[in-house]
Formats: sequence, structure tokens, C-alpha cells
Amino acid sequence: MKVIAHRGASGEYPENTLLAFSEAIKQLADGIELDIQYHYSNNFVLLHDNDLQKTTNGKGSVNDYSLVDLQQLDAGLGEFIPTLHQALELINGDCFVNIEVKTAVIDKASLLKIITLLQRDIAHAINFHDFSWHQFIVSSFNHQLLAELKTLFPKLATATLVALCPLNYAQCAQQLKAISLNPSIEIVNQQLVDDAHQRGLNVWVYTVDIKEDIKKCLSYGVDGVFTNYPKQTKHYIEQLQTR
Ligand code: G3P
Ligand code: MG
Repeated sequence: MKVIAHRGASGEYPENTLLAFSEAIKQLADGIELDIQYHYSNNFVLLHDNDLQKTTNGKGSVNDYSLVDLQQLDAGLGEFIPTLHQALELINGDCFVNIEVKTAVIDKASLLKIITLLQRDIAHAINFHDFSWHQFIVSSFNHQLLAELKTLFPKLATATLVALCPLNYAQCAQQLKAISLNPSIEIVNQQLVDDAHQRGLNVWVYTVDIKEDIKKCLSYGVDGVFTNYPKQTKHYIEQLQTR
């Protein structure tokens, strides 16, 4: 079962920051999950919420600030809000990266803009850093975005995020040509996992920190877990597997 650092090693360090990512690498996470928001400077900035007050000393939303001013804010322990470009430069192929696109837009023009920028940043990471294509997976709760992404950028692997159990279980992920269904721990059960596996999909579950949930995921045959505590989760997995 893969261990993916959720927003980096965010249980111990400020989420979606370079510090949280370098610590996740030190803790030997298999992958890092990060959240991106579109900024009008044509960059992605790493923030889970559009509301800056949630994780920084700023007020208002992401696009109220210029990129320079946004990067002056404190994202915790003196860390700044990185761009996707800066995060990929730091991670540099040391583990795979799950880029979660946070957006509610569904109009074609906006989706096209987001996808083009994503393509630019990923291509740059592959061409100028130590990444290869198979180290990237793009996920979203915005299934319209995933559909458009697969049309415009078929080479890139995607994962379908679901917070509630879909009517036809993993069918939505298959329809979107994703490689993985990524459900919340709240909804994961044997039926959902089996259905995904029968469709040739992986199942990566968020957010899995406690032993009881790790045990549940192992028993269902889940393929990966997003965790805020990569080192501890790896330790629990080893403990449970050697029993
Ligand atoms: O990608 C898994 C997980 O991060 C999705 O939910 O709200 O933590 O971004 P959230
Ligand atoms: Mg996320």
C-alpha cells in the first residue's frame, strides 16, 4: 500500500509548503499530494483553500493579491506559499507527485487555461528537473476538468476524487479514463474497492492517519493512502503486515 504525504508531511509541518514537502521526502513517502489554485499571474499557487485566513496571515482570497505580495505572506513557521513550479523544483523527482486541482470552474475557456498551464509546469519539471511522466498524477473533485484534461492531454494519468459514494461506484473513474478512484475514508468499503479493482482501477484513500483506518484500508486491499503523517503511517503499515 503506497503512502502519499497529504499536503506534504502536514501533520507536523505547515501544509502545502516546501518545508512539508522536504520533510515528506525525508520520511520516505512514496508520493506527495499537493493542492493547487489558479492565480491570475498565470501560475498555480499551493493552497488548499481560496480563503487565505485558513492557513496564512493574509486576509481575503488568492486573487486579491499579486504573486509577489502573496508570497510575502506567512504560511506557517515562516514558510511562504510556493508556486507549483517551485514545489516541483524542490521535489525534483525524489517521489511521485499527485497534483490536486482545486477549482469549481467548468467553462471550456477557463478549463483550457488551467490545463495549458498545468501542461507547461509538468513539461518544465520533466525537461529541466529529474522527473519522468509516470511520476505525475492529476486529481480533482471537478470531473469536468478531468474529462477535458484527458481529451487535451491524454498522456497524463488522472485520478477521480469522490467525497460521497457515486451511484455506480467506480464507474465515473472508468468513464474518465482515470487510473485511480480516490475516495474519502468516510465512504470506502469492500464493495467500492472491489468494483474499482474489477474495472482495472487503483484505489487511493484520503485522509488516513489512525491505525484503525490503516487496518481497514489494508483489509479492503486499498492501493494507497493519503496521510498527514507519512513516517508514522509507514510504521503502522509495517506493524500490521508483520502480525
Ligand atoms: O487528494 C486527496 C485529498 O487531498 C482530497 O481532499 O480536501 O484534503 O484536498 P482535500
Ligand atoms: Mg488535496
